[in-house]
Amino acid sequence: MVKVAVVEGDGIGREVVPVARDILAAVRPDIEFFDVEVGYGRWERTGCACTDETIADLGSAAAILFGAVTTPPDPGYRSVMLQIRHALDLYANVRPIRGEGVDVVIVRENTEGLYSGIEWTEPDRACTVRVVSRRGSERIARYACTLAKSRRHLTVGNKANVLKSDCLFVDICTAEAARAGVSCRTSYIDALCLDLLMHPDRYDVIVTTNIFGDILSDAAAYLVGGLGMLPSANIGDRHALFEPVHGSAPDIAGRNVANPVAAIRSAAMLLTHIGDPASAAVVEEAVGRVLGAGIRTPDLGGAAGTREFGAAVLREVGRGKA
Ligand code: NAD
Ligand code: IPM
Ligand code: MN
Repeated sequence: MVKVAVVEGDGIGREVVPVARDILAAVRPDIEFFDVEVGYGRWERTGCACTDETIADLGSAAAILFGAVTTPPDPGYRSVMLQIRHALDLYANVRPIRGEGVDVVIVRENTEGLYSGIEWTEPDRACTVRVVSRRGSERIARYACTLAKSRRHLTVGNKANVLKSDCLFVDICTAEAARAGVSCRTSYIDALCLDLLMHPDRYDVIVTTNIFGDILSDAAAYLVGGLGMLPSANIGDRHALFEPVHGSAPDIAGRNVANPVAAIRSAAMLLTHIGDPASAAVVEEAVGRVLGAGIRTPDLGGAAGTREFGAAVLREVGRGKA
């Protein structure tokens, strides 16, 4: 029995997560799911988006399947996503971008940088402290190098020409790559952003600081059909959370048009994490066959609904297992 916490969250999280969960249940009948409510919806209803008890519930699972949460522009509201990443110390945000001619993994530091949480507002200015620590950089560098060692090479996305904090990050990443025997180069994040879109074949594993990885991964979605396609894993030493790269997409929520591929692929990453890469491959291949058959949601130019796409993947999963 494997315990998986399921967080639908807000907006299209409520539509894409049930699809991903049904597919997980189909390939792994031994998974015991339990629902955990967090997010803006819960905040509106109860005045609290996520408690310490919620974090403990999430921490009790072998893995977490997560949808997306809405962060309202309310000064008193703290992003639940950041709260969970910090509380469970999910320091590596792993974002694979795979498609025709593209096979890149962005490894994003997930606990510090501009998301340090150290900020304050004065009457005439507001400040956010960008923190790059040796410990934080070493562990993400190690994670990225281990991955790059089984692949091809590493690029360190940075802005060390301007930010002293990135000099430390680059030094630590390049030293770790040398130690691990990984071929490594460094690239300024602005130029890297464009070059990745123009020449994705030049890239393999990219490691970078928190917000650069956030922006780079949304831009990279352009290479493979958009935000509906990209999964991610938030990995720590003791916990792991799997979620689409996209957000709650309030502009399309509730209409059964959201693309569930990112959520389904996140479920596949969860399967690999719990030691079942064979089932992950069954799911990935099923998604590939459904897309290949021209069944697509509107963001990819198709007419399939979220649920109909999910049903098609479930049918293919059944064939793949047989
Ligand atoms: P978004 O990713 O939700 O949406 C950006 C655009 O992409 C929208 O036009 C949306 O319709 C489209 N899109 C996203 N996912 C799609 C899918 N699966 N299928 C089809 N189209 C899709 O980003 P946003 O609009 O900037 O943010 C909305 C809310 O989500 C905000 O409150 C933000 O803070 C939150 N957010 C949460 C997470 C998370 O929970 N991890 C991630 C990003 C944004
Ligand atoms: C993401 C999101 C989050 C981030 C937000 C919702 C806090 O954009 O997971 O990419 O900025 O990390
Ligand atoms: Mn983002």
